[in-house]
Amino acid sequence: MDTRILIVDDDPLICRQLEDLYTSQQYLVSSAGNASEALRLLGEYDFSLAVVDLRIPGTDGIGLTREIREHWPDLDVIMITGYASIKGAVEAIKQGASDYITKPFQKEEILLATEKVLEKRRLLDEINYLRNQLSNRYSFANIVSRNRVMHDIFETIEVLAQNDATVLITGESGTGKELVARAIHYQGKRKSGRFVAINCAAFPDTLLESELFGYERGAFTGAVHDRVGKIELSTGGTLFLDEIESITLNMQLKLLRVLEEREVERLGGNRKVKVNMRVIAATNVELTELVADGRMREDFFYRINVVPVKIPPLRDRIEDIPLLVCEFLRNSEMARERGITRVSNKALSELMGFSWPGNVRELGNVLERAILRTTGPVIREVDLPGAGKRKDLESLRRTYDYEVPLKEYLRRAEKDYLNHVLRKNRGSINLSAKHALVDAATLHRKMKLHGLAREDFRGRGRSEPDQALVG
Ligand SMILES: Nc1ncnc2c1ncn2[C@@H]1O[C@H](COP(=O)(O)OP(=O)(O)O)[C@@H](O)[C@H]1O
Ligand SMILES: [Mg+2]
Repeated sequence: MDTRILIVDDDPLICRQLEDLYTSQQYLVSSAGNASEALRLLGEYDFSLAVVDLRIPGTDGIGLTREIREHWPDLDVIMITGYASIKGAVEAIKQGASDYITKPFQKEEILLATEKVLEKRRLLDEINYLRNQLSNRYSFANIVSRNRVMHDIFETIEVLAQNDATVLITGESGTGKELVARAIHYQGKRKSGRFVAINCAAFPDTLLESELFGYERGAFTGAVHDRVGKIELSTGGTLFLDEIESITLNMQLKLLRVLEEREVERLGGNRKVKVNMRVIAATNVELTELVADGRMREDFFYRINVVPVKIPPLRDRIEDIPLLVCEFLRNSEMARERGITRVSNKALSELMGFSWPGNVRELGNVLERAILRTTGPVIREVDLPGAGKRKDLESLRRTYDYEVPLKEYLRRAEKDYLNHVLRKNRGSINLSAKHALVDAATLHRKMKLHGLAREDFRGRGRSEPDQALVG
C-alpha cells in the first residue's frame, strides 16, 4: 500500500523542502498551511503520518495533534519545533505525538524519524493482521502455522480423527508431536475418552511394564493394592506412547501382543481384559535405523508405523515464527501482566535467523526469558537472551542430547551449569566460585572456555530476580 504523509506548516518553503524530500523517497505527500486545511485533507485521504509544525495559524500544532489523536487514533504525528521550544516538544509528546524534530533539521534526521515511526506502524499492522489470520486460517486445534507441510498435517489430522488407525508421529524434540497427538484425539470421535500419555523413556523396563499393564495386589513387593495400567485406562480413548524408540525388545514384544490381541493382563493377574484404544506413538529418531540395527523388532515397527506423520523442524518453517511469537505472547500470563504485546522487527528477524535446535519449545523458552528482561511494552533485540549473540542462544540447546559424543555432552552440561550459577549470582565470580566449589581462577578459565562473560550476567536494573530465568 502507498504511504501518504501530511505536512502541516505555515512556511511554504519548509513545506516545499519536505515535499521534495519525501517525494524523492517514493512517499505520497499533501501539504497544508494551517490546521483547518489539514483537517480537510485528513478527511479526504488515508494518511500514515502527519508532520506538524508546532506553530501554525488557526490552532497550534499541539491542538491539532490532540484533534488527530481523537479522530484518527491510528495516525502518527511527528512534531517540528524551533530550537527554543523543547518545552513545546515535550507537550506534543504528551498529547500523543510519536516524535519531534527541531529546526533547522537535517534531511537524514527527518527521514530517520519518519522511517522509525512508519516501521512501528507496519509492525502493529502486521500483528493485527496475524491476529486476524490466527483466528481463521492459520490455526487448527491450538496448532498455529502458515506452512504448507503443516497445513497438510492439519488435513491429515482431520482425516485421522475420524478413524482409529495407529499413527506414528516423527519429528525433532519440541516440534509439536504431542500437540498433534492431542489434536487427533480431541478432534475425533474418541474425545470423550481419555488421552493417556506415557513417556516410555522416563521409566526403566520393569516400571514401564507396571505403568502400562497395571498390577494386582501382591504381584511384587510393594504392590499393596491393585492398580489399573495406562493401557486399560485409555480404553475408549487414546494411548500416546511418547519416545517409543526407548522401549526394549522385550517390552516391544509385550506391547505387540496387546496391539494384536487388543487385550491386557495385569501383572500378577490371571484375567485378560479387553481393551479398545487408539494408539499414537511418537519418536524423534529414525526408527528404520533401529530396525536395521536390531534394536527394534520389525513386526513391532510395522504395527506402529501404520500412518506416519512427519513434523518438519522449525528451521524449515521460519515463516511460522512471527505467528508463534504472537500466539505465545497472547497465551503468556506473564506477558499480559507486564503489558508486553509485541516484539520489535529487529528482535523478530533475530529470532527468525536462528536455527532452533529445540524447535517450538525452545522458542517458547527464549520468549519467556525475554519477557522477564523487557521493561516496556515491546520485546526488543536487547531483551533476547544473550542480547542477540547467537552463541548465547545456542546455550539453550538441549543439554541432554544423547546423540553426541560424551565429551560434547559434558561440555554442554558444564556450560549449562555455569550459565545457571552465574546468572543466579548476577555475574559475581566469588559467589559463583563458592557455589561451584572451585577457585576463582578455575571458574575464570572455564568461563573463557565457554565464551561466557560476567557482564552478561549482571542484569540491567531489572526488577525480576535472575533465578527466575532458569528453569
Ligand atoms: N505449531 C504450534 N503452535 C503452537 N504451539 C506449538 C506448536 N508446536 C509446538 N508448540 C508448543 O511447543 C511446545 C512443545 O510441543 P510438544 O508437542 O510438547 O513437542 P514434542 O512432543 O514434539 O517435543 C508445547 O508447549 C506446544 O504447545
Ligand atoms: Mg514431547
